[in-house]
Amino acid sequence: MRILLTGATGYVGQRLSQRLVDGESHLRLFARDAKKVRERIRNKVEIAEGSTFDIGSLKEAVEGIDVAYYLIHSMGAGDDFDELDRLSAQNFLDACVEAGVKRIVYLGGLGQKETASKHLLSRMEVGEILSSKPDRVQTIWFRAGTIIGSGSSSFEIIRHLVQKLAVLTPPRWVRTLTQPIAIDNVLDYLVDSKDLKVEGNLIVDIGGEVVSFQDMLLRTAKLMGLKRIVIGLPVLSPGLSSFWLALLTPVPTRVASKLIESLKSETLVQNDNAQRFFPHVRLISYDDSVRRAIREIEDNQVLSRWYDSSAGEVSDTYREGIADAVFVEKRESDLGELTPEEVFKKIVRLGGKTGWLRFNVLWRMWGAADKLLGGYGFSRGRRDPNELRIGDTVDFWKVADLVEGKRLLLASQIKFPGKAWLEFSVEDEKVVQTSYFYPNGILGRVHWYITHPLHVLVLDSLAEAIVKP
Ligand SMILES: NC(=O)c1ccc[n+]([C@@H]2O[C@H](COP(=O)([O-])OP(=O)(O)OC[C@H]3O[C@@H](n4cnc5c(N)ncnc54)[C@H](OP(=O)(O)O)[C@@H]3O)[C@@H](O)[C@H]2O)c1
Repeated sequence: MRILLTGATGYVGQRLSQRLVDGESHLRLFARDAKKVRERIRNKVEIAEGSTFDIGSLKEAVEGIDVAYYLIHSMGAGDDFDELDRLSAQNFLDACVEAGVKRIVYLGGLGQKETASKHLLSRMEVGEILSSKPDRVQTIWFRAGTIIGSGSSSFEIIRHLVQKLAVLTPPRWVRTLTQPIAIDNVLDYLVDSKDLKVEGNLIVDIGGEVVSFQDMLLRTAKLMGLKRIVIGLPVLSPGLSSFWLALLTPVPTRVASKLIESLKSETLVQNDNAQRFFPHVRLISYDDSVRRAIREIEDNQVLSRWYDSSAGEVSDTYREGIADAVFVEKRESDLGELTPEEVFKKIVRLGGKTGWLRFNVLWRMWGAADKLLGGYGFSRGRRDPNELRIGDTVDFWKVADLVEGKRLLLASQIKFPGKAWLEFSVEDEKVVQTSYFYPNGILGRVHWYITHPLHVLVLDSLAEAIVKP
């Protein structure tokens, strides 16, 4: 069997690729940035680089495929994400039909149309598009609510809330009922669906115990050994709720507001197809899924995180456009007493708990301002204090390129009007630190001139500190 996995660099996709690669099938990954595919599986799979908005790359990716997983969404793209998702799904379906793909497997969201948020409606629309040619290609459409696992956005929100607040004052929407599911169970269903003997399209609702967000908060606190009190507030506008969530947890306002939107209506399983067609999948209890997630975090074994992909219009490890940057500043420092290897080691350890060597307060203020504006700020830190790979976060940066011992390129995800990069190139006798900025219109230019003195101070001293023994 030849399998295509799209969304292979996303939260679910990375974990699924890990499971599928151990099977007997031939696995092809579809990724917008092939460099983001983890090294540990890179030599065991075929990689097709492309986007669903690039028909040529899509056609090549589906060529000769039997089962194609669709784990793509454009939620990070802004207000027109639903239009992009519609187009993306249609392009994918058309390519699959033309190539004679036998089965599409899609994972969408749980809920009902009448009460669904814009995000959920879009997920349903994608499912409908993918299922619209049952005579040409069969579609198995899974619908899941909250996914509980290390690094999942919902679990990270719950974990941070119970860790940071002794008294929780959640508004009414936290009492809405939902059926969370462990990420490992989601993977069980997805893996088994490729071999399922069934004719025609199928919608499979998946979920575990019926609980509320409030139950999840209290049970997680208990499992983490924390005593927490909940005092429900009668009203708190979704806008204010998402502001508080973004401030207290690593998720930016955009993700927080989508989560709150989806929590306002019940997300309960509507059919029993999971038990009928997948009776062998043993559901993991909510408590056990939390225990598993905590263990993975403590053991530094988190396989994927919700922010590994921004699911925007373009990949978040953007390298294109750097050549068009309007403001470019180079800082060269002699290596002095350090070897090139020692300097590179210092560079790849920047950020997170290590900090930025000098003026950490200014860096943190920068992060705090970004968080207040609805961005990530410093809340994501680093995956590992010593090691980096392409796609990793470094505070408000993403690793866009990494050439071991030679080059590190960080692409900014900070909320300002333009694109920015910070590049370090280590040569035999010097290190070159280059900052690039491409302003978006007049606002971008104004921003550049106002913040420039601060950038000079911070980046000059960073260049100096990097070569200090
Ligand atoms: N995570 C959850 O809690 C959850 C819960 C219920 C249902 N689901 C469903 O599960 C599915 C996967 O979710 P996820 O959380 O794994 O998403 P994710 O982490 O945001 O990943 C999205 C993936 O889509 C890729 N992508 C986006 N636009 C693309 C395009 N035009 N062409 C090719 N690739 C593109 C991204 O690539 P880049 O890395 O290049 O950005 C990334 O690999 C979604 O349908 C979602 O609705 C998820």
